[in-house]
Amino acid sequence: MRLKTQLLIASFMVALVSPLSVFAQPVAKGVWLGNEVGAAKTPPMGWNSWNAFRTEVDEAKVMGAAQALVDEGLAKKGYTYVNLDDGWWQKRRLTDGRMIIRTRIFPSAATPDGTTSFRGFTDRLHSMGLKAGLYTDVGHNACSQAFDLHSPNLPEGTAEERQVGLDGHVSQDINLYFKEWGFDYLKVDACGLADFAPDSKLVKDNGYIGLTPEIDRASLNRTDSDRVEKRYAAVAAALKETNPDNDYVFSICNWGMANVREWGKDVGSSWRTSSDITPNWSSMLHNYDSAVKRALYAGPGHWNDPDILFIGAGDFDADHLTEARTHFTLWAMMNAPLLISYDLRKAPQSLLDIWGNTDLIAVNQDPAGNQAVVAYDSDDAQILVKTMADGHKVVALFNRTASPAKVNLLASHLKLKGDAPIQLTDLWSKAGSTFTGETEFELAPHETRVFSVQGARELTDGVYLSEIPGAINVADDGVREPQLDPTVHRMIDPWAGTRSGGSWPQYAGWGGAQADMTPYAQALQIADHTYDSGIGVLGNSLLQVKNEGYAIFRATVGVDDSTSNRDRAVTFAVYADGKLVAKTPPLKFGDAAQDISADIAGHKIIELLATDDSAAKEQPVVVTWGGARLQK
Ligand code: GAL
Repeated sequence: MRLKTQLLIASFMVALVSPLSVFAQPVAKGVWLGNEVGAAKTPPMGWNSWNAFRTEVDEAKVMGAAQALVDEGLAKKGYTYVNLDDGWWQKRRLTDGRMIIRTRIFPSAATPDGTTSFRGFTDRLHSMGLKAGLYTDVGHNACSQAFDLHSPNLPEGTAEERQVGLDGHVSQDINLYFKEWGFDYLKVDACGLADFAPDSKLVKDNGYIGLTPEIDRASLNRTDSDRVEKRYAAVAAALKETNPDNDYVFSICNWGMANVREWGKDVGSSWRTSSDITPNWSSMLHNYDSAVKRALYAGPGHWNDPDILFIGAGDFDADHLTEARTHFTLWAMMNAPLLISYDLRKAPQSLLDIWGNTDLIAVNQDPAGNQAVVAYDSDDAQILVKTMADGHKVVALFNRTASPAKVNLLASHLKLKGDAPIQLTDLWSKAGSTFTGETEFELAPHETRVFSVQGARELTDGVYLSEIPGAINVADDGVREPQLDPTVHRMIDPWAGTRSGGSWPQYAGWGGAQADMTPYAQALQIADHTYDSGIGVLGNSLLQVKNEGYAIFRATVGVDDSTSNRDRAVTFAVYADGKLVAKTPPLKFGDAAQDISADIAGHKIIELLATDDSAAKEQPVVVTWGGARLQK
């Protein structure tokens, strides 16, 4: 055998047995990778036409809502975005690809030459101190063209003229919407990538030009997540280029599909974590569950979006104020966008009081951007705790059930000392109370109690990382193949009813980084020792932490007792502004936890790396940064 051939064969053999297939090990970056572009430093607030009017939207309805936002004082409280959803378009003009507005419902958009423009509309909103949002789709066609076929406001004309989505026109449309028309916010839907299969009945019956689906709502495996991400990333790039003033919001709306719960934070200002909300308790639970355990993935500039509020309708109407208050409280605690979608020209005071609760708005808009963390979890009741920028806590006790529920609130849920008095102020009734150690509440069916909390912190000279998810960027969570999250409430699908085989987990994200629990929802535990505070994550992960003035990082680390991969050793390393400042020896399942501490004084970006040499096809190792904290 000639030497060259021998070498080739030898290297092929090495490739077969050597760790070529080792799962990608991340490295410290030394720069902040968290997405902060755009205007959503705090969660966007405003009004959206969809839940209120679907495609039967028109200028009078939208301007009526805008006027009511101002007149009722809601605009002053932060509700500034007025977002036009599906239904505004007439067609794409084929001579130059320009989008034409349906002037029958937006008369002010008419121009003598038929070109149409929203400039007058956005100017009016701006002159009222408001901002303007518009809706489009990332594919060729939009959702109403699949799901609102009865609508009088569907795009008109030839198949080409009815291609109103961004595909093939990204920079042209974004230039038109932002530069020429003056919008400030773009919601980008994804039905164009999901519902227009070339051989489908929908496409044939309606004469659309099909697009081979890249999203299969029923199957993560049949969804091309990378392609979907790339399409949204191209929109993000065009938005950035068109808005050098950075005054824009990019709302990704692909309903939790295509693993967006993981990558949405790097691309958009917000990303829908689930399918559309309906005014129904079960749907609210479903959407809430899709976002509530993703605290580490959100922060200033990028927010989980469990969908528009449905307060004012169905289970959340003026006859169900307990449920309406719960819906609002949960969205506020999760740092969800607060978008009212109700005909505000005739809103009862009882609902205005809910949207207008300034204490809860302040909770939602807190500049630290720490989404609430689940401190107690069950299908019956949950306790959510949010740490505010000034260090004080807000706690919500949520009864998910239709029966009364007893909930014990412990100082430890709040990471406060159990031997010092804790003061609670109810953010709905404003009543105050005090307890020490533990107290008990009887919650009415579907009730949420929410309190601002003052007490003595357990950790007197610092913060646990699980208290500051808004300061953490999960640069790499170590997830190998996206897995479906089984913890989301499975509602009867509002559209399919019980005609399908059942309602199964739909959204990737299982195995993601978690505050105070493992990626697979277990207590944090290393070699028989449990940790109430800490970060649970997989091996080969990189977490970035913003350090605002702390001097020391400390944690007790190791392979978590819950790991099913007991073979691999994990090395934990801490970097400060790109420089290695602490490292453990390789640690295996069962090894005693190791204390790790690092001098981080004066450093801005702390990076936590957990690496191992497991193969890509292997189960990931579960690792725990027990008690991970920043101290003075
Ligand atoms: C859905 C979207 C809704 C609304 C609707 C318009 O896909 O999730 O929020 O925008 O399309 O047709």
